Amino acid sequence: MQNILITGGNSGIGYATAALAKARGYDVTISGRNREAVAVAEEALGVTGIVADMQKTDDLLRLADAFASTGLNALVNNAAVAKFMPITAHTDEDYDVFFSTNIRGPLMLIQFLVPALAQRSGAITNISSAVTNNGLPNASLYAATKGAMDGFSRSLAVELAPQGIRMNCVSPGAIDTPLISKLGLSEEQIEAVRAHQKATIPLGRFGTPEEVAHVILAQLEAKYVTGAVWHVDGGVDSI
Ligand SMILES: NC(=O)c1ccc[n+]([C@@H]2O[C@H](COP(=O)([O-])OP(=O)(O)OC[C@H]3O[C@@H](n4cnc5c(N)ncnc54)[C@H](OP(=O)(O)O)[C@@H]3O)[C@@H](O)[C@H]2O)c1
Repeated sequence: MQNILITGGNSGIGYATAALAKARGYDVTISGRNREAVAVAEEALGVTGIVADMQKTDDLLRLADAFASTGLNALVNNAAVAKFMPITAHTDEDYDVFFSTNIRGPLMLIQFLVPALAQRSGAITNISSAVTNNGLPNASLYAATKGAMDGFSRSLAVELAPQGIRMNCVSPGAIDTPLISKLGLSEEQIEAVRAHQKATIPLGRFGTPEEVAHVILAQLEAKYVTGAVWHVDGGVDSI
C-alpha cells in the first residue's frame, strides 16, 4: 500500500488532500500543531494523526522517525502561516515565524525524510502560492517564503533525482479555505480582498480545496515530472 504524509492535514487544502488520498486507498498520515484539531480530523477521516509543530526540530525528527522503517511514498509540505501586513509593520518575530514555519520546517522535514523517501522512490509536493508571480500589497513576507520554496524545490529536484526522489510544487491561487480568516484582516477587509480577487480571476471564482487536492495527487503520481511548478489558480498566472 502507498503511504502519504500531509503536513497541516487538519484544515483546508491539507484536509481535502488527506480525504482524497484516503478514498484512493493510500495509508494516510496527517500532522498539525493543534492537538484537538488533529484529533478531530483523524477521527473524521479515519487516518493517522501526529501532533507536530513545523517550527520545532524535535517534532520534525519525531515525525520523520514514524517512517524510518517503512519508508515513505509521498510527502506534501502543506502547512504554512500567512498574514497580511505592510512592510513597515514587520517585526523580528514575524521574520522568525514566517521563515521557520514556511521554509526551515519544510526543508528540515525533507532532510530528515530523505532516507525514508529513497526506500520507496518517493515524491514530494511543496505547496507554494500564486503570489510568487502576481504581486499582492501587504503580502511581501509571505511571498518571500513561497518564492524561496519554488527556488529550493528546483535545486532539490536535481539534487535528489539520483536517489529516485521527485520534488515539485503546486501553486494555488485564491482557494476557499480557513486561511483567509487567519490573515489578520477585519471582515470588511476580507470582503474587499475577496471582491478584488474574484474580479481578477479569469475563471471568475475562487477554487475549492478539493480541486487543489486532485492536482497534488496527480503531481505525486506523475512519474516523469520533477522540478515543476503546477499552477491551480483559475488562470491568474496567465494574465
Ligand atoms: N487558501 C489559499 O487561497 C491559498 C493560496 C495559495 C497558497 N496556499 C497555501 O496552501 C497551503 C494550505 O493552506 P490552506 O489555505 O489550506 O490554509 P489552512 O486551512 O489555514 O491550513 C494551513 C495549515 O497549516 C497549519 N500550520 C500553520 N502553522 C503551523 C505550524 N507551525 N506547525 C504545524 N502546522 C501549522 C495550520 O494549522 P493551525 O490550524 O494550527 O493554524 C493548518 O492546518 C499553505 O501552504 C498556503 O500557504 C493557500
